[in-house]
Formats: sequence, structure tokens, C-alpha cells
Amino acid sequence: MPAASGPEPQMGWHFAVPMLRWCAPDSGALNEALEALILARRAVGPEAHLSNVGGWQSHPDLFDGPAPCIGTLRRHIVSLMRIVMAVPAGGDRTRIEGQLGLTGWANVNRDGDFNRVHDHPGSHWSGVYYVSLGEPDPGTELNGAIEFLDPRPSANMPIPGYRAGSAMSMLPAAGEFILFPSWIQHYVMPFRGRGDRISIAFNAGLKDYRVL
Ligand SMILES: [Fe+2]
Repeated sequence: MPAASGPEPQMGWHFAVPMLRWCAPDSGALNEALEALILARRAVGPEAHLSNVGGWQSHPDLFDGPAPCIGTLRRHIVSLMRIVMAVPAGGDRTRIEGQLGLTGWANVNRDGDFNRVHDHPGSHWSGVYYVSLGEPDPGTELNGAIEFLDPRPSANMPIPGYRAGSAMSMLPAAGEFILFPSWIQHYVMPFRGRGDRISIAFNAGLKDYRVL
């Protein structure tokens, strides 16, 4: 519960949604290796059909393989998860305990493909890593953007000047991670352009998590 207010008016934001974005430095070689791995797997044939309309998705076992690029990606995700897990402990990673379970799958969208509205049941945190943006048509607004729906169901009477009830868009870069709570509904705008737009989605489940 928030602390009592003081003598000065205090403005607070409540029901805020925690999200994290981070661009991995020097991701070029990592992305080349991930792209080769994913496209080789796609060449074998169809696998899963989750949220995609068109496009291709792998089974959610992408992190099970021994490829070094998968190991690098997993290490990045674990590092980011330690950050978001430590927020309830004031950012102190030494005060958190718990086990982390990760699953991941690949998405390849081509011209016209998109992902319908969905969330990630059975998980706590979810995220996307962007391997390649393809060759997007620069004239298409929100091309391939990931959009999050306002999770406040009663926020349908916006206060002037305050945003409510609309989607929040993120236009990612190659090499970028976006982490968000698994319960927030999201979708991916159609990709318009050439080539393959490749991303890796993941779920992170926390077991026996506690703040010391
Ligand atoms: Fe998703």
C-alpha cells in the first residue's frame, strides 16, 4: 500500500505496467548465427501455429539446442530477468531467491504476416528478441510494431491529456529485447516489406520466488 502523503501535493502513478527494453551491444554476429539456425529449421517445414497469421513459428523448444548462439541468448535473457526479478527488492539482486524456467520459440514473418492479439498463459514474464527486421517498407506506419493493449478495462473515459484505452506501440531494433508481464495482451502489426522479419519469443516462469 502506498505511504501516506506529505504536506506537499504528491502525484503518483498506480497500476503501472513494468516493462524492460535493452539493445544488446555487438549483436551482429549473434543475430547472424540465430538467423542461420532459425531459417535452417524453417526450411524443414511447418511446426507450430500459435499467434501467427501467415508467417512461421517454431515449436517452443528453441532453447533446448546446444548451439552457442542459443547459449548467448539465454544468458542475456537470464541477466535481464534478474533485473526485473530484483525490482520488488529495490533492485538488489542479492535479496531475491527463486528458480527460473525458460522456453522460447522463433517467429519468421514475411510481407503481410502478423500476430493476432494474445497473451502468454502459464508464464510470469514474457519477451521478444529481434534477430532481423528484414527490409521494411519505410512508407508503412508502425510496420511490424509490437503493440500492447491498455490492461485497465475501465479506463475507457480518458482524462484530457492523459492516455488511456489505446494501444501502446513499440518499434524495435535488431538486437533489442522487450520484456513484459505475460498477462498483458499484445499483437504484432503486419510486416510490409521484403525478406524475413525474425524474432524470438520467450516465456520465463518463476518457481519459489521470494524477496529476502
Ligand atoms: Fe506474444
